[in-house]
Amino acid sequence: MVYSGIIERHHIIPLMRMARCSIKRLFILLIVIVVLLFITCFSMLGQSPSGRAGVSDKAPLRAPKIISNPQGQKPIFRYKLERELEKLMGQRLTPNNDAERAEEKRGYALNGFNQFRSDRLPLDREVPDTREPKCLSKHYPSQLPSTSVIIIFHNEAYSALLRTVTSVLNRSPPHLLHEIVLVDDKSDHTDLGVKLDNFTKLEPKIKIHRHSKREGLIRARMTGAKAASGEVLLFLDSHCEVNLGWLEPLLERIAINRSNVVCPVIDVISLDKLMYSTIRGPPGVRGGFNWNLQFKWKKIPEYEQKRRGHDETREVYSPTMAGGLFAIDRSYFFEIGAYDMGMDIWGGENLEISFRIWMCGGKLELIPCSRVGHIFRKSQPYSFPGGVDTILIRNNMRLAEVWMDEYKEHYYAKRPSIRSRSYGDISERLELRKKLHCKSFRWYMENVYSEMPLPLENLRYGGYVSSWRGLIKCVGVLL
Ligand SMILES: *[C@@H]1O[C@H](CO)[C@@H](O)[C@H](O)[C@H]1NC(C)=O
Ligand SMILES: *[C@@H]1O[C@H](CO)[C@@H](O)[C@H](O)[C@H]1NC(C)=O
Repeated sequence: MVYSGIIERHHIIPLMRMARCSIKRLFILLIVIVVLLFITCFSMLGQSPSGRAGVSDKAPLRAPKIISNPQGQKPIFRYKLERELEKLMGQRLTPNNDAERAEEKRGYALNGFNQFRSDRLPLDREVPDTREPKCLSKHYPSQLPSTSVIIIFHNEAYSALLRTVTSVLNRSPPHLLHEIVLVDDKSDHTDLGVKLDNFTKLEPKIKIHRHSKREGLIRARMTGAKAASGEVLLFLDSHCEVNLGWLEPLLERIAINRSNVVCPVIDVISLDKLMYSTIRGPPGVRGGFNWNLQFKWKKIPEYEQKRRGHDETREVYSPTMAGGLFAIDRSYFFEIGAYDMGMDIWGGENLEISFRIWMCGGKLELIPCSRVGHIFRKSQPYSFPGGVDTILIRNNMRLAEVWMDEYKEHYYAKRPSIRSRSYGDISERLELRKKLHCKSFRWYMENVYSEMPLPLENLRYGGYVSSWRGLIKCVGVLL
């Protein structure tokens, strides 16, 4: 139990030093410590610990951090110089009059990126090959699992969605691309209606499913997964451009072992110029999280570099995924419990599936030779029914209660006031965890994410004794 760890660090070591003293003195000291701890327990009862009691998580959570290059280097690849591009296009990519300036402003407001420019760039533009040079000499088997690419969208800019689709069609070997499943989560932009239908009819591999009411990311992904019939499900955001040779390195890992769940390395498409760029050198980061249960990019630790034999083309074991882009064997996806359907809309589901993959016998990997560009938007341009904070807290509580065992206290310690909130019925998920014989969260922390520090110093005892349950636990530790 984690709380006994606290006692050990603070008190066992001084106790050991005392072992030289007489047994009697040791005994007296023990009693004193027990009494002091008891007093601490009671004095903290009812007080808030130092962490913010209110709600602090703010959308968007998804991965904008990768933009900041951990090594502080400049992006090296740039799409063609603007003027060169304009010559190529035969039209300006920047607004030229008041009407166009208004259009540009409207595009930003609707999408959180420069839609004006997106609408004027070719759908099938080239992107720079951002792979490590060593990736180019790798050979992949020609027979790999067939893939259903699943793209969920809600009021996406038409040109950005079509550029995503076009890049998948152009840069995937046809025999490996089984289909593209589009799921429209109740968009109301008119060009995503008949105009999109007209476009998708041109390509038999594209299938489109439309929700009659807004369901959110989690349920929309399930719609896509159930409709898909390829051997692998590959989830993509709706404002991406896949790069050369992106698919084979992902599928190879799944072909080697169907319990490998894989993510491409995410390149950056800038939200203003829509330039495709990457960070110099091999990916230096992998997925982690903090005790607010937010996804974080973290430097790849030395022990993982060693496991990879410092080979930049090899898979990186990643404790968590950012959530937007990943591939998974279809039958394995359902076998390990797909998504927690008790979670609403969006948020927390990426950590939930990450913990579950690792704890229930799979692996989560980043594949450096597979690159996908992604527009990191300024803000989440759409709202959530019911409010972002409420949904996020509920989802995170389900995540903590089902998967995190005693470590959930680190989450609650920062916001003790939410403890009494309802998170719905989790019995099915607990049953799933039992059925799959999943390992403990402690095992995950020690074997998958061992560099993660436990917030002992900030936590103190407050987090555990701010409720009656906490008090009982606190006393339990002492006895
Ligand atoms: C869609 O296609 C139909 C039939 O070809 C055409 O009449 C219609 O104008 C098209 N609609 C849009 C919005 O492109
Ligand atoms: C697949 O990976 C899992 C988890 O690492 C392992 O237990 C299993 O033996 C592997 N299966 C094969 C066929 O290699």
